[in-house]
Amino acid sequence: MKLLVLNGPNLNLLGTREPGIYGSQTFEDYFENLTKKFSKTALTYRQSNHEGDLVTIIQQADGVYDGIVLNAAAYTHTSVAIGDAIKAVSVPVVEVHISNTFAREAFRHNSFISPNAKGVILGFGLKSYDLAIQSFLE
Ligand code: DQA
Repeated sequence: MKLLVLNGPNLNLLGTREPGIYGSQTFEDYFENLTKKFSKTALTYRQSNHEGDLVTIIQQADGVYDGIVLNAAAYTHTSVAIGDAIKAVSVPVVEVHISNTFAREAFRHNSFISPNAKGVILGFGLKSYDLAIQSFLE
């Protein structure tokens, strides 16, 4: 099983970014834990702050990975292009969010990812990624 963990804008700042919402662990540290926990799964981590790069990475993942764990961050709420990219490929995508976006500002309640995703996991902190990976394995 080959899975791509793909993070969008500002998630490279996890650890220092709004720790009250996103916690104080860097994603690199957390990802190391994930690779140990899921040692039989080939996990790859990519991050970009650029919408077009995320579209290209999703397109290129088709036929290469068995699934994508995607946190499109703020682009979740704005990006028709990322939603279309998911629709255009056959690799399944599980949408994740660290925070419970429905308990936050109204503009975070809309997602261009959800209608095209296999499922959505949100609000469990970084554990949301762990749960999303498990969803591909079970
Ligand atoms: C987020 C929620 C988004 O609304 C926000 O823009 C992010 C992170 C989350 O993981 O909780 O950057 O996707």
